[in-house]
Amino acid sequence: MAAGGGPQAGYGRGVHEPTSAAPEEPAPAQGPTLFDWEFATDPYPAYAWLREHSPVHRTRLPSGVEAWLVTRYADARQALADQRLSKNPEHHAEPAHAKGKTGIPGERKAELMTHLLNIDPPDHTRLRRLVSKAFTPRRVAEFAPRVQELTDHLIDAFAGRGEADLIHEFAFPLPIYAICEMLGVPREDQDDFRDWAGMMIRHGGGPRGGVARSVKQMRAYLGELIHRKRDDLGNDLISDLIRASDHGDHLTEAEATAMAFILLFAGFETTVNLIGNGVHSLFMNPGERARLQASLAAGERDLLETGVEELLRYDGPVELATWRFATRPLVLGGQQIAVGDPVLVVLAAADRDPARFADPDALDLSRGDNQHLGYGHGIHYCLGAPLARLEGQTALATLLTRLPDLELAVPPTDLRWRGGLIMRGLRTLPVRFTPRNI
Ligand code: HEM
Repeated sequence: MAAGGGPQAGYGRGVHEPTSAAPEEPAPAQGPTLFDWEFATDPYPAYAWLREHSPVHRTRLPSGVEAWLVTRYADARQALADQRLSKNPEHHAEPAHAKGKTGIPGERKAELMTHLLNIDPPDHTRLRRLVSKAFTPRRVAEFAPRVQELTDHLIDAFAGRGEADLIHEFAFPLPIYAICEMLGVPREDQDDFRDWAGMMIRHGGGPRGGVARSVKQMRAYLGELIHRKRDDLGNDLISDLIRASDHGDHLTEAEATAMAFILLFAGFETTVNLIGNGVHSLFMNPGERARLQASLAAGERDLLETGVEELLRYDGPVELATWRFATRPLVLGGQQIAVGDPVLVVLAAADRDPARFADPDALDLSRGDNQHLGYGHGIHYCLGAPLARLEGQTALATLLTRLPDLELAVPPTDLRWRGGLIMRGLRTLPVRFTPRNI
């Protein structure tokens, strides 16, 4: 069983009964403790309990905000697609309270608020259509050789040493350089992004005011870059966005900056954690890892493709979907939700629901019928999924092929998971391997 964990004794009893049915034994009066250190290490037993006993669960978050947690797969899918749940924080019963606690760091500034994850139709429809014209599957496919080059280059830097921290030296820089190149950030400026992004992912662990400063610098830089590109369009995503907005759909300067920012932000820590959590899950499941390595050695890709989807289901980067707020009264999983109430869909819990997935706590890289919610569902479904898949598959395949005896360099219990509500990921992932000459 992976350290990601299965239900412990006393928690989930397999496929859940409807909430109204009489339980065989009285449910424990108190639920598990959420959001403490133990929970961050392995939240899955607590989620199994919630799915079983309190599938739409009201809780007070560490920030003090009260919210509903939705943990069953069917309810989660319904909530993600329910138009009565708005993404706009103005719909929170306590909008002033919610601001700055519900989104990306520093986004209280209006210039960054108008991004896809904060808006509803019709603005969402217009902006999503626009960015979809620029962020096409073809553009992502054309980018594959560059992702491979970036991946090799990062591995080259530590391959001769026989040890590395896979988060800081590999999983973290790869998506930053990839999205910078896609957006059209010149190479000489990309290390600035690496620094700013590094500050943002520290979740308060950095110097005072560091996050706000980094967001401000990033916003100013992106604004300037968009300005420059208007006069000198190139073959990149920002130029395509400008072209698309000049052909009918209107995109304001603030919307363009917010769009570039959300592409960076949404595509960065998520991919760091796809690689980090993915490698960790493979370490904890040596049989599945050996199967994947054998299949890669045979030149096959099928298991890699289904495997990355399974790693997303099993221990995905986005633990909770972003905030939603009820604009009308609604019933979810038998629970009455009032207007203004915040709703958080727990993707990590839904993706381990035994009512949807056979043997959900087992990692099965060849799992079929794997409609996981790791990329969300409905109109906010992840725009960057094709890029994330490309990066995840390239990173894992290259690591396991070039460093076949890669192993964890510390006991698994020494690993620390990052705090923070939405994302799930490791702070560091120390590894060792036989040094390789390049
Ligand atoms: C493994 C990596 C990734 C995962 C697990 C992931 C997951 C998600 C999820 C769950 C959502 C929906 C959130 C919600 O409904 O509350 C989402 C939305 C989004 N993602 Fe990703 N993402 C990943 C990578 C990326 C990348 C690489 C990009 C772009 C470069 C990206 C851009 C976006 C954008 C723009 C949205 C908002 C879409 C909308 O609101 O219409 N993501 N992502």
